[in-house]
Amino acid sequence: MTGELVDGWGRTHRDLRISLTDRCSLRCTYCMPADGVPWLSTSEMLTTDELLRLVRIATGLGIREVRLTGGEPLLRPDIVDTVARIADIDTADGPLDVSLTTNGLRLAGLAAPLRDAGLARVNISLDTLRRTRFIELTRRDKLAEVLAGIEAACAAGYAPIKLNTLLMRGVNEDEVVDLVDFAIDRGLQLRFIEHMPLDAGHTWNRSQMVTAEEILTTLSARFDLVPQGHDGAAPAETFAISGTDATVGVIASVTRPFCGACDRVRLTSDGQLRNCLFAHEESDLRSLMRSGADDARLAQAMIACIARKRPGHGIDDPAFVQPRRPMSAIGG
Ligand code: 5AD
Ligand code: SF4
Repeated sequence: MTGELVDGWGRTHRDLRISLTDRCSLRCTYCMPADGVPWLSTSEMLTTDELLRLVRIATGLGIREVRLTGGEPLLRPDIVDTVARIADIDTADGPLDVSLTTNGLRLAGLAAPLRDAGLARVNISLDTLRRTRFIELTRRDKLAEVLAGIEAACAAGYAPIKLNTLLMRGVNEDEVVDLVDFAIDRGLQLRFIEHMPLDAGHTWNRSQMVTAEEILTTLSARFDLVPQGHDGAAPAETFAISGTDATVGVIASVTRPFCGACDRVRLTSDGQLRNCLFAHEESDLRSLMRSGADDARLAQAMIACIARKRPGHGIDDPAFVQPRRPMSAIGG
């Protein structure tokens, strides 16, 4: 197999984000409706063998990093085995780097086995430290489980462990400092993510979004921040917090887009390759594979998908249209 995943703007793709399931154990208001979500059926979803085949082909095209997402990836029944098999894949530059983004709910029991299976890093979502607020935000009374998951990840020796926080105006924006203090105390790297128009209800409203600038203003009033810039193609802009070993980050996808350095490509749990979170077109690798395509044909479809990638997400373009699939079915 030859070729790399290079788009028309010269971006070479190294990072494959795989949604292992569209299901989730929470119902965050900014992501999913309370009920009535049409789930994918088992036959629509890739089997683990099919998934592994696509990952192997992608590593042949230059992918060096795989991030597992959802929905909630830890709901996949064979998650430990899946991680072990992905982590076992060799690339031309050494072993594949495997990480995972989770809501933390099943992490208390899985942090150690996943680490043994070869998982390198975890990102855990944490929007609030207050139980009643967590219930309002996620429609589930599960904060204690998330906190236990975070403790288990620390005990299992992952480094770094990152926390993802989404702030919403009038909901949790008053917890900026508390959340950072929580992260500093445990040696975790917290990143605030700007709310993107990817909710199932299509209710996103730019004026409601808490911007990176506002967050940094609040943080600067309490902490002495030393800018460290972006780490390669990483979306977070990081800041060292003087007097601590900690860093804090902002992912300003909307107000300071980082599309120019994007090296990410996404595979949904039903086998559709997406060249952008905000793409409207998908490449149907599942149908190709199930109709008997060989590896070369699948590689060609991946290359063609990336070749069509647009320069940016265009959220600020008046003609912007939110993608049909919500974040929970694409993966973060
Ligand atoms: N905008 C930004 N981040 C989002 N997430 C979920 N929906 C959105 C959105 N619309 C985040 C979650 C989680 C990660 C997987 O993606 O907060 O941390
Ligand atoms: Fe689940 Fe993450 Fe969506 Fe919350 S944001 S409902 S944890 S997929």
